[in-house]
Amino acid sequence: MRVISIISGKGGVGKTTVVANLGIILASKFKKKVIIVDCNITTPHLGLYMGIHQHPITLNNLIREESEISEVFYTHPSGVKVVPASLSLKDLDGLDMLHLKSAIDRIKKEYADTDYILLDCAPGFGREAIAGMRSSDEVIYVTIPYFPVVVDVVKCVHVVDDLELKPIGLIVNMKKNNKHELTLTEVENITEIPIIASIPFSHDVFKSLHNRIPISVVKPHSKITKQFDIIASVITGEEIPKSKFSDRVFGVFDKY
Ligand SMILES: Nc1ncnc2c1ncn2[C@@H]1O[C@H](COP(=O)(O)OP(=O)(O)OP(=O)(O)O)[C@@H](O)[C@H]1O
Ligand SMILES: [Mg+2]
Repeated sequence: MRVISIISGKGGVGKTTVVANLGIILASKFKKKVIIVDCNITTPHLGLYMGIHQHPITLNNLIREESEISEVFYTHPSGVKVVPASLSLKDLDGLDMLHLKSAIDRIKKEYADTDYILLDCAPGFGREAIAGMRSSDEVIYVTIPYFPVVVDVVKCVHVVDDLELKPIGLIVNMKKNNKHELTLTEVENITEIPIIASIPFSHDVFKSLHNRIPISVVKPHSKITKQFDIIASVITGEEIPKSKFSDRVFGVFDKY
């Protein structure tokens, strides 16, 4: 079992989008047992992105040791198990993020046949973000290709080193290929982290968020979904499974 936290120096760069879609691809295409956890307790979005409308039991209850682990999962049609955090502000009362690690350890122990646990972390390196990182063994960085945001990744690298976590690589998201962006080579030179995927900017991501169906489900053959296939392949070390002929034929309509 591998526990991977998805992190960024700055907020709003696409961590939750990555966790949702990567989880779906690992579970549905690579046939892995996957749990995704919303560790961004103050501004949790993962449940919303996964189309979960009601979730009376959340990670907050697990951290407070008020619920059984089996009660906290919501299974997405792709097979990925989702652990949402509470949307209620009141639910933050008395919540100690130092206990996140023991909540994740309980999941690891009781669901020992899980292949991957992906942690959707809070941005930056405050207490909440560090709690997520500390609960993992490996990290994936997410950034957008703009100078100040990439510089923030470098700060994250120091934190990751201090915590002795293994870096898997960097995802450059929302690439528009305009002249104000850094190139992938520049990003790699600044951060000294290998880039494992470059995800284009697409209004389809907003649309899918609006409809609460992740892009990899709505557009399984799109350029964006192909990048999630690549990330899953890097993580697993396995080739991307070939899609069925009928899927490939109908896949041509993904671009419309
Ligand atoms: N490739 C993309 N193209 C267009 N929009 C995108 C792309 N990736 C993410 N977005 C949009 O950008 C916004 C921020 O994405 P997301 O919530 O995944 O970021 P985050 O890093 O998790 O943010 P936070 O730090 O606040 O948790 C969302 O509205 C999402 O739909
Ligand atoms: Mg997020």
